[in-house]
Amino acid sequence: MEQIIRKRLEAVGQAHLLTFIDELTPDAKERLLQQIDGIDLDSIETLIGTYVRGYPTCDVPSDVEPAPYYPYDPTATVRPYDAEQYRTQGEALVAAGKIAAFTVAGGQGSRLGFDGPKGAFPGGPVTGKPLFQLFSEGIAATQRKHDCTIPWYIMTSPLNDEETKRFFDAHDHFGLDRNNVMFFAQGVMPSFDIKTARLLLAAKDSVATNPDGHGGSLRAIFNSGALDDMTARGIEHISYTQVDNPLGRMIDPLFIGLHAGAPDSSAQMSSKMIPKVGPTERMGNFCVVDGKTTVIEYSDLPEELAHQRLPNGRLRFLAGSVAIHIISVEFIRRLNTRQAGPGGFSLPLHRADKKAPYIDLDTGKLVTPDEPNAVKLEAFVFDALPLCDKSIVYETDRTEEFAPIKNGSGVDSVQTAAQIQSNRNGAWLKACGVAIPHRDNGDVDAVIEISPLTALEASDLRNTQLPSKIKRGATIAL
Ligand code: UTP
Repeated sequence: MEQIIRKRLEAVGQAHLLTFIDELTPDAKERLLQQIDGIDLDSIETLIGTYVRGYPTCDVPSDVEPAPYYPYDPTATVRPYDAEQYRTQGEALVAAGKIAAFTVAGGQGSRLGFDGPKGAFPGGPVTGKPLFQLFSEGIAATQRKHDCTIPWYIMTSPLNDEETKRFFDAHDHFGLDRNNVMFFAQGVMPSFDIKTARLLLAAKDSVATNPDGHGGSLRAIFNSGALDDMTARGIEHISYTQVDNPLGRMIDPLFIGLHAGAPDSSAQMSSKMIPKVGPTERMGNFCVVDGKTTVIEYSDLPEELAHQRLPNGRLRFLAGSVAIHIISVEFIRRLNTRQAGPGGFSLPLHRADKKAPYIDLDTGKLVTPDEPNAVKLEAFVFDALPLCDKSIVYETDRTEEFAPIKNGSGVDSVQTAAQIQSNRNGAWLKACGVAIPHRDNGDVDAVIEISPLTALEASDLRNTQLPSKIKRGATIAL
């Protein structure tokens, strides 16, 4: 086998992966050869040419339009809708057990620099509850409210699968029935050296790989058997959220109802958006290209378009993606089977330059770089939107639902997420008549955590014993 693999590697300029093969134990040697055998070497040169030596450009057509969206306020003059009707429709689907929760948790969280799966990161600003616990509580509360079962599918990666499952075991699945919490691992892509464009070794017996992006979920759900499990359970739609947004609502009946019932929805894949704070906020933009809902990354949207304003002063391209979707089981099955058309489905790859520890080929030592040294290729889930027949976008409120934890400090960090959670919770309490202290910039001047078990939305607080006021600088968990 070694000779065959060596020849194949030589043919594509990657024989350095066998530099240390003679030092390896028979088991380690076998592991390395098996791993290399599993890599699609035939496409390596094309990938290197397109994404590593070159930077893929995205040609945005000149007739790109902003995507229409259902406004947060259903009584708005543009695109008003019957929120009660859609909410009721969504609640009926939830109560009938047709909705599953789905969390993508396969990322490496390299910016956060946390030692462990991102979902184990303490996301509760007062209690320090791990993100996975906050989501578990959201599911438990939804099950209780609608007297139903919400199966929860969690996508891990081969790099964090074991640790994630151990974490759930160690916490007794946070009180959820373990038979309704399913894990599956996404696929990986090899990582490339940013300078030489060659594949990196993560160890002498292992090629460096990275999870293949959240877009990999659409294939992994199918390949892992999770989709069949969903079908067997009678699930029709999955509610897709990211592991690093403690405020992302696991199950939102109104959004589900719009996805399933709006006249311009094909009920295949729908998205939530928030209005961007400025033209160049680093969010994907919901657009219409060739009649299809499409997300164009902030870096690809031409500056001139990004700055365009409507007569009322609002940004023309206003809708930013918060990576919350409802996706139908049938749509995912269609993508993965012949119905997707000849050649099946594939999502475009995106390049990200990141830090990845690697083996120095001269010294054989592991190097932990300070600067990005690796090119990682990932697929993005929103690239499936243009594959829908029709796809709708629904506006949500930034403070209600978007508190991303990406970085160790600064922008989109645990500190900013804690403030956003306090702001949201302060607004909920204020709506119930509680006096809330604010700073000059409008932020709530207290740390407030509300468990989903206490309230999934502001109106759930009506039946809760609440203080009449929160003191400035207080720390309170409800
Ligand atoms: P990010 O794009 O923020 O990536 O993921 P990340 O890997 O978590 O963090 P960095 O970029 O290395 O710092 C957004 C969401 O998509 C999931 C993440 O777990 C997170 O919920 N994701 C990302 C996957 O599930 N798989 C991937 O391959 C990439």
